[in-house]
Amino acid sequence: MTLLVTGGAGFIGSNFVHHWLSAHEEPLVNLDKLTYAGNVGNLQSLAQDKRHVFVQGDIGDTALVTQLLNQYQPRAVLHFAAESHVDRSIHGPLDFIQTNVVGTCQLLESVRAYWSALPADQQSHFRFLHVSTDEVYGSLSPDAPAFTETHPYEPNSPYAASKAASDHMVRAWHHTYGLPVLTTNCSNNYGPYHFPEKLIPLVIHHALSGKPLPVYGDGMQVRDWLFVEDHCRAIERVLQAGTPGETYNIGGWNEKPNIEVVKTLCHLLDELQPRADGQSYASQITYVKDRAGHDRRYAIDAGKIHNSLGWQPVETFETGLRKTVQWYLDHADWVSGVTSGAYRQWVDLHYGD
Ligand code: NAD
Ligand code: DAU
Repeated sequence: MTLLVTGGAGFIGSNFVHHWLSAHEEPLVNLDKLTYAGNVGNLQSLAQDKRHVFVQGDIGDTALVTQLLNQYQPRAVLHFAAESHVDRSIHGPLDFIQTNVVGTCQLLESVRAYWSALPADQQSHFRFLHVSTDEVYGSLSPDAPAFTETHPYEPNSPYAASKAASDHMVRAWHHTYGLPVLTTNCSNNYGPYHFPEKLIPLVIHHALSGKPLPVYGDGMQVRDWLFVEDHCRAIERVLQAGTPGETYNIGGWNEKPNIEVVKTLCHLLDELQPRADGQSYASQITYVKDRAGHDRRYAIDAGKIHNSLGWQPVETFETGLRKTVQWYLDHADWVSGVTSGAYRQWVDLHYGD
């Protein structure tokens, strides 16, 4: 029994690998291209663990993926690999089409060939779990009900459109070929190993470095935040008991405007690592130009996964955010490792002066 994980050196993938191996003896093969967002340092503590096999490579490399499938005979593929940052998709959408759409189709084809050749009992137990996002549903007005699994797809950014396309491909491979797929659509994650291009780790890193804390537009865009470990538990549960062909929304029932998230982070940092001059980190908050096409509000209705699979988040936003801030304070080496050359180029390109 083995799992094949794609993108397991990224933020959520690496948290999943740690989560899985802390509770299961079943080994994992971890296929990751190591783009700017992938970091083997996230997996350092597993260097001597024989249950974890890391392979650097692309999900679209059919020869490599086929060889891994035949060699390790996984009972499931968990597909995390993607280009994941909305702002980067606005600067350069084509990488997102290549990995999220074309790469996912190439992976589906490699997996279909492997799965088709399995004995019937193994075929029926096999799973392809596709990790997707709530952004495929588009933006909600302030009083609209949260996204359910039947909400129409209305992706607004190139990133969201590429993930929506990948969801449709996964669905089609189930409908047409019978591949036993599961799709999860999750809200905004936060926690350890989050690359500091995304709001929460960027604010922590910039606050501690004495830099401006950039808030887009009026800061009143709403996101539904979920601690990453809770997302990992949900994926584990869907893999275990989800029905092939079904989709499951995952979220924290935790909607917050961005400016409230940023101020809460500042207050936590004021408490845990006060500024030398006694001022609050909130004095570094700077309103900047809004994101193009910025979605105003996301909110997930996680009723289906709760009612059918018994999953619900363990962490509150308060406990999860405190753990996260403490993790970044305790892992300054990790932060300095991922915020060198290429990261600075991105910050200069995107935020300018
Ligand atoms: P991430 O950007 O931190 O990590 C992505 C990983 O995929 C990196 O390790 C990267 O090297 C790898 N990768 C990229 N292209 C690849 C390719 N062609 N072949 C192999 N590996 C490749 O992303 P994340 O935040 O951990 O997100 C993981 C998945 O979860 C994505 O599919 C994303 O759409 C989805 N998701 C993310 C969030 C969130 O809040 N971060 C929420 C919901 C869903
Ligand atoms: O909703 C799930 C999605 O959440 C995932 O699919 C994506 O992979 C993930 O990146 C995330 O997308 P967002 O665009 O919501 O996350 P981000 O951290 O980039 O931004 C969160 C909010 O904060 C968003 O409204 C934009 C705003 N923001 C972001 C940055 C980086 C700022 O105001 N300032 C910033 O500097």
